[in-house]
Amino acid sequence: MNNFEFVLPTKISFGEGVSQNLADEIKKMGHSRPMVITDKGLIAAGIIDKITASLAESKIQYKIFDGIEPNPRDITVQKAYQMAEEYDADMLVAIGGGSSMDTAKAVGVLMTHGGTINDYEGLDKIQKPICDLIAIPTTVGTGSEVTFWSVITDTKRHFKMSIGSPLIAAKLALVDPLLIESLPPSMIAATGMDALTHAIEGYTCKAAEPITDACGIYAIQMIAENIRKAINGTSKEANANMLLGSLIAGICFGNSDIAGVHCMGEALGGLYDTPHGVAMAVLLPYVMEYNYASDYEKFAQIAKAMGENIDGMSPEMAAFTAVKAVHKLNKDLNIPSLKDLGTKAEDLPELAKRASVNVSVESNPRTATEADFLDIFQKAYQ
Ligand SMILES: [Fe+2]
Repeated sequence: MNNFEFVLPTKISFGEGVSQNLADEIKKMGHSRPMVITDKGLIAAGIIDKITASLAESKIQYKIFDGIEPNPRDITVQKAYQMAEEYDADMLVAIGGGSSMDTAKAVGVLMTHGGTINDYEGLDKIQKPICDLIAIPTTVGTGSEVTFWSVITDTKRHFKMSIGSPLIAAKLALVDPLLIESLPPSMIAATGMDALTHAIEGYTCKAAEPITDACGIYAIQMIAENIRKAINGTSKEANANMLLGSLIAGICFGNSDIAGVHCMGEALGGLYDTPHGVAMAVLLPYVMEYNYASDYEKFAQIAKAMGENIDGMSPEMAAFTAVKAVHKLNKDLNIPSLKDLGTKAEDLPELAKRASVNVSVESNPRTATEADFLDIFQKAYQ
């Protein structure tokens, strides 16, 4: 067995109503001027009011930055940072999906290190912990509440930069299933497929180790068992399980890595602003088809965790069954094709080029060059 390290600096508080503990948690940390980072949709839905009510009751002053967009950009990070500086915020609260949490991590970096977020692209460019951050997820996909990654679009390059360090992790995640009760089915589908991709890539990538394997396969099973039920809107428990599945997938890939699907999907998001989860779902089965021969045993375990019967199959067939299970799931969830997303055939070489320089390209279970990525893009496009 190879040596490995496992880190989880984030305290996790999970359960119905835990987001109501925000004020107490801020006080326990010794802070009094939080800035909340979120999006306008959550304000319109009344979710932010419900959470911040506890701050008003406890007479904690706060400021809200509500300018978060999907695929957050470096200029948005800069705007939020300016507001935090002007307000003299002493900590950050991120409420939302990955975009809000990733932006908050990036703002935290600037509050403690200065400069622009582009200065910190890559792994371990951060020298000291960021300011305290409480993350409150409202989607079932990103796992960003427990990961050490922030993905921000560099607007000059139209490229999604990854900033990674355990020092940017949230100090506390308040994970409250009541907040996702009104999540629309299309959002559960897209963000849930992002979570499944995290679990599958975290479990199969070159950086996987025994603890991430345990989290990864558990998350795959949990998401596969619950995603259809959650979308039908018939089971509150399925929603809670999706939220937990996405968190456990986050613990998995945060400590191992992501791989080819994210390399390709982030290229797509950088060029076309494709919602991250949709990009993941569209590409996942095609990258799995490219990768499955690298580890028949692990891919067979994925098939099994997704509820497929692989008894009596050859190792190769059992592994390939995982690819088929994801195609089937995409069909059930009405995931569009790469072509339907408006991708242009003439852009595929550029997308492949961008995928090949992603920070996680080395982690893909099977070596993948620019030509290989082009091949996968073309297969997904047909
Ligand atoms: Fe992702």
